[in-house]
Amino acid sequence: MSKVINTENIRKQFPILNQKINNYPLIYFDNGATTQKPLSVINSISDFYKNTNANIHRGVHTLSRKATEEFELARKTITNHFNIKNDQQLIFTAGTTDSINMVAQSLASNYLQAGDEIILSAYEHHSNILPWQLWAEQNNGKLKVIPLAENETLDYAAFEKLISEKTKLIAVAHVSNTLGVITDIEKIKAVAQKHKIPVLVDGAQSAPHMQIDLQKLNVDFFVCSAHKIYAPTGIGLLYLSEKWLNELSVSKVGGGTIKTVTFEKTEYAEGALRFEAGTPDIAGAIGFAEAIRFIDEIGMQNIFEHEHELVQYTQQQLSQIPEVIMYGKSEHKAGVISFNVKNAHPFDVGTLLDKYGIAVRTGHHCTQPLMQCLNIQGTIRISFAVYNTKSEIDFFIEKLKKSIKMLL
Ligand SMILES: Cc1ncc(COP(=O)(O)O)c(C=O)c1O
Repeated sequence: MSKVINTENIRKQFPILNQKINNYPLIYFDNGATTQKPLSVINSISDFYKNTNANIHRGVHTLSRKATEEFELARKTITNHFNIKNDQQLIFTAGTTDSINMVAQSLASNYLQAGDEIILSAYEHHSNILPWQLWAEQNNGKLKVIPLAENETLDYAAFEKLISEKTKLIAVAHVSNTLGVITDIEKIKAVAQKHKIPVLVDGAQSAPHMQIDLQKLNVDFFVCSAHKIYAPTGIGLLYLSEKWLNELSVSKVGGGTIKTVTFEKTEYAEGALRFEAGTPDIAGAIGFAEAIRFIDEIGMQNIFEHEHELVQYTQQQLSQIPEVIMYGKSEHKAGVISFNVKNAHPFDVGTLLDKYGIAVRTGHHCTQPLMQCLNIQGTIRISFAVYNTKSEIDFFIEKLKKSIKMLL
């Protein structure tokens, strides 16, 4: 039992956990890919469709006004959680990938110029590489990469040396989805501010595990996906600093983003609406806010401590298995562990664990360049959420040892 939170009560709120997979109780260790949803979130979505469903922002009828109120309340709830100064700085998107693509396309239209350079890190998810690579290919631009240091954190000394007069953006993951290592954003910012370079933080793996205070973090762009934070798929956020809220050009346009339109000219709306073209995922936003209420009730710091305890416990158990190689040795980690079994393919280990009802992720985790740096094909990744327990880890370790015996 965790010292800080009551996992027994928490687990009761997740109906999906109460099932057997291959005749064993489900152990869900694939939270980095997506988390399970508590009943309050599931109910908030079905309640919306049962009682309130209508399109937002343009209706005078009662249901439309009610739906608009719930949608905008969701924006406020999420704004408060991330301590964003003005709720208009929070733009609903389809998720992290969508947010990064939006920023890339917008910056390409009136900020980035041919030959410019963008700095990424060695452990970026493909979603924070491809949009920049596409721009670079089309504009003779260049991507520079912060290398890994010995302990598989980033080499911050090497980072500063990558800066040139052409550097126009630094885009880094807050937490590596493969290694669990936490990026030192303060170190990144110190260099970025000195050279007046904007910073984009991919918070897909930090928002589920850590308290994020966006006024303190004080970066230009922050993005994350709701489905990794106990909320539904298909929704996420793009945070813009006050400067970019005013200066970022729009990349998606259409209904909802405007003040007035003639065939000659369009005057765009101000604030978040300028970026939210078309009918948004209204129920998704409501579910996202409900998930935020769920975590705020437990307390993000408690979640962090609980998961940290699980990570420490698992690493300690894994380190006693001679066939196991662990990656991401830093102490400064959040919720994720990657490892391999010597002379065994990660898929085989994952498939055997599944026979015992244990869901882990295997492969490159959408970080193929990181795999190349580490000179491996893939890893076995376990990633925790608030409902995971030490007894699940004990069962996993027992079955991992058994699987290793079968494979070697
Ligand atoms: C660090 C990181 N960035 C981006 C993404 C992409 O998120 P999504 O598929 O929700 O857009 C992920 C998903 O695993 C991730 O872990």
